[in-house]
Amino acid sequence: MAIHLSRTFVLRKLHQLSGIVPLALFLLEHFYTNSKAVAGAASFNKAVSELQSIPYILLVEIGGIFIPLIYHAVYGLVITMEARPNNLNYPYPRNWFYLIQRITGVVLFFFIAFHVLNFRFGMIPGLNTISVAHRPDLAFDIVAGEFRIVPIFLIYMVGITATVWHLANGIWLFMVDWGITIGERAQRLTGYACIAFGIVMLLVGINAAVAFIRPGGLLGGLL
Ligand code: HEM
Repeated sequence: MAIHLSRTFVLRKLHQLSGIVPLALFLLEHFYTNSKAVAGAASFNKAVSELQSIPYILLVEIGGIFIPLIYHAVYGLVITMEARPNNLNYPYPRNWFYLIQRITGVVLFFFIAFHVLNFRFGMIPGLNTISVAHRPDLAFDIVAGEFRIVPIFLIYMVGITATVWHLANGIWLFMVDWGITIGERAQRLTGYACIAFGIVMLLVGINAAVAFIRPGGLLGGLL
């Protein structure tokens, strides 16, 4: 039996899959590395240095992060432009989540472009011009210096929040669309699990950012 898959179907499935593998996996690793800042500058700088010593790191970054990210981002914007939000007609939570998934996608597009040009390549005029990846010994100080600038720190708070929302809701969408979570009750319970996951990720992400300007992070000195 010949199975015919339309081009749009395949592109759409690849878009959904790229959101989970590798982007979600990368984000978990990224939050883990950033959380080393809670233990102090030396611990974070060592983690950056170890990442940079991965063999073929540039190829790993290009194939494992940049290409999937650019595909997911660009095709995500195409999907967003084709979207027909109907929240005003049907104010159900799922319709709002549909709209917020697209809004956070657009926010992420600009935030990730800024973040990568800034810390990975040191190319934002007026901010640091050193790539954190090239100077692991200065990594903590470069990030800390920028996070002390209030508007930059606020941009990161918005970016982290948008990323975590997009990921937590994205995992739910993926599980439902790929037929992993079937039935009303299972979908509701998976929804609660994704909310719990999102809250934990948000706290971990914000705590790591705070650790660059307050030793030990939010609970610094208490733990
Ligand atoms: C960089 C800009 C980004 C844009 C413009 C974007 C856009 C989108 C859009 C429009 C959707 C909804 C697709 C649909 O309903 O069919 C989506 C889904 C998703 N995104 Fe993103 N995204 C971006 C970055 C990311 C990042 C960094 C991650 C990982 C942390 C991610 C993970 C996901 C996941 C897991 C889904 C759910 C896939 C599904 O619908 O089954 N996205 N994205």
